[in-house]
Amino acid sequence: MKLSFLKLSQRLGLSFTRLSHRAILGIETSCDDTGAAVIDESGTVLGEELNSQMKIHLENGGVIPHLAAYYHRACIEDVVSSALRKSGLNLQDMFAIAVTNKPGLKGSLAVGVEYAKHLAKMVEKPLIPIHHMEAHALMARLHNNIPFPFLVLLASGGHCQIALVKGIEEFYLLGSSQHNSPGEVLDKIARRLKLQNLPEYYEMSGGQAIESMASGGDPKAYPFPHTMTHYRDCNFSFSGFSSYATSTIEEEEERFNVPADGVIPTAKDFCASLLHGYAIHMIHRIHRAFIFCENENYLPKNERKLVFSGGVACNSYIRTALKQMCSDLKSEFFAPPPRLCTDNGVMIAWNGIEKLKSNASISTDLDVKLDPDCPLGIDIGESVKKAAIKIKIPKVNISEDVTT
Ligand code: KG4
Ligand code: ZN
Repeated sequence: MKLSFLKLSQRLGLSFTRLSHRAILGIETSCDDTGAAVIDESGTVLGEELNSQMKIHLENGGVIPHLAAYYHRACIEDVVSSALRKSGLNLQDMFAIAVTNKPGLKGSLAVGVEYAKHLAKMVEKPLIPIHHMEAHALMARLHNNIPFPFLVLLASGGHCQIALVKGIEEFYLLGSSQHNSPGEVLDKIARRLKLQNLPEYYEMSGGQAIESMASGGDPKAYPFPHTMTHYRDCNFSFSGFSSYATSTIEEEEERFNVPADGVIPTAKDFCASLLHGYAIHMIHRIHRAFIFCENENYLPKNERKLVFSGGVACNSYIRTALKQMCSDLKSEFFAPPPRLCTDNGVMIAWNGIEKLKSNASISTDLDVKLDPDCPLGIDIGESVKKAAIKIKIPKVNISEDVTT
């Protein structure tokens, strides 16, 4: 049975005074971060906790699904208790519990959903199922007034997607990564560069290590090839970066006679050039997305807005390049603070609050299903392809060193 939030509140016997202080507990376990947070409807984060499994997966060279589920199970109770304790509220004070049920690793999603169901049953509160990518996309609205519609670029370890966001639950997918994701490729290249052999990078994700190594490097030293320039769509591909990186690192190791556990001496320039290549690829697609949406009247003219989120959006070089592009295209640019770009409980609780405030309907039963492969919104990529809008390869010139 579906009820509006208003009807639901009445049915739960909540007074309007109480309604003005509604708070939501959000739980995230879609991949390898166990996150929980409590947010009230004024957007105040009352308490949050995060347990990252990054170090464990770094040692294994990538996320191993059954291990991820195991570690979620081991810490979820502590993570949720800690977020609640920090908020000064208890479970009974929550208006609802929001939990990621799509997309993600099946075993990981199951831990969060089962635990949330258990809590919801215990205190007789509703459950709000949350789409992980929608939550990334709306995260920036916690700190900024960003009216709909806007464009969002989501770049993470699992996805690269560009979408038109017309409402809390209204997404239109313009393009996505065809093969691997930008974060996955950064992680792979960082391993191939052997950055983890340097003590200062040992505990960093591949993306962080590359960002740190790129500091002070020359972004134009290595000519990473432009990818997918003949395809007039908004899709992405990062496999060209991966193959160019693999063969170039091999050549450089030979040229400089690098020992088996060593790092090429030109790693700074190499990493800076890689990030530069990423920025060009992303800007090329975003520019086309803006023009397409304006031509189709999906976005009002002269009101361009871009939100950048997901783990790769932590990267200051790419953030600066996109911000600069937005300024050139007379667009506003928004990105959550880096710690809220990666997976966390705050984005899930905030998405619950957004649904609550928009008076979206929620289910009163606890029958929340997992949907590990759920797409983002309605796919309109074919229309973008048909429009075949020609966009010049952008020139990216960032003068200051933004990576320090
Ligand atoms: O969104 P996220 O936390 O998890 C997924 O849903 O995938 O993204 C993780 C990805 C990893 O591949 C990591 O290397 C990348 O985000 N990442 C970065 C940075 N920090 C994390 N990539 C580039 N620069 C960073 N500073
Ligand atoms: Zn994510």
